[in-house]
Amino acid sequence: MTYENILANFQNGMTTITINRPNKLNALNKNTIQELHDALDAANTDTKTKVIIITGSGDKAFVAGADISEFAHFDVENGGKLAAKGQELLFDFVENLSTPVIAAVNGFALGGGLELAMACHFRVASDNAKMGLPETSLGVIPGYGGTQRLPQLVGKGRAMEMVMTAGMIDANTALDFGLVNHVTTQEELLPLTEKIAGKIMRNSSVAIKGAIKAVNANYKDGVNGFKIEIEEFGNCFGTEDFKEGTTAFLEKRKADFPGK
Ligand code: COA
Repeated sequence: MTYENILANFQNGMTTITINRPNKLNALNKNTIQELHDALDAANTDTKTKVIIITGSGDKAFVAGADISEFAHFDVENGGKLAAKGQELLFDFVENLSTPVIAAVNGFALGGGLELAMACHFRVASDNAKMGLPETSLGVIPGYGGTQRLPQLVGKGRAMEMVMTAGMIDANTALDFGLVNHVTTQEELLPLTEKIAGKIMRNSSVAIKGAIKAVNANYKDGVNGFKIEIEEFGNCFGTEDFKEGTTAFLEKRKADFPGK
């Protein structure tokens, strides 16, 4: 499949999706959001793809936000629809994918860019990365889940300060805040992310799918995460992956998981 604003490349069990509008610092316009949805959906249903990596093209930006030129003239109704559609197509969609999604944050991750990184299952950053939610400097609030996911990741006080000041934090501060899991050089960003993906791929994709669902349940209104964990734990016992994982352990060999 070919896309206008993104690249999707499959190699060694990983699909790397690169947002490719470097002259607009990879800003998310409507078409890019749709293409990301389509590429993520395809990678998630592809049984060979065990991990998905999202990154930005060029050495300056992961994503510098939603495309301001597309919504600057919107009214109240269109503003609400923009946020609702984006959350459905991309941000909630990423978070709830059953395939692990890692954001490799290679530069500016601002507004919708940070919101996309936060919707991924976890984040690795290069040392030139700068992260922030600058929306209040534009007279608007984060609309792609930022007001919800940033406090989940960094705590309410830090999130409030970042949203109210509209300021940026550097990669090491993001590491300190728990917003990213690792910081490395620009050259090492993808190799390190792929190394982590390799560790994930050795484990059962079927079990990981259940784990993602159970962890996410903790953040859903009206859902009892402990109950989901019990259900997903129980379901594992009916899978080929469970048979293989436990048998391999008892036979003192490496497991070769059949599922996705
Ligand atoms: N939407 C649309 N276009 C954007 C964009 C965005 N969010 N972010 C950057 N661009 C475009 C710029 O308009 C510019 O396009 P042009 O060359 O056609 O004029 C191009 O990308 C390069 O950006 P520029 O501002 O020249 O780069 P810089 O290095 O001087 O500054 C930033 C980098 C990230 C600080 C600056 O681009 C910026 O503040 N972007 C907006 C961030 C933001 O508010 N995001 C939240 C949106 S809700």
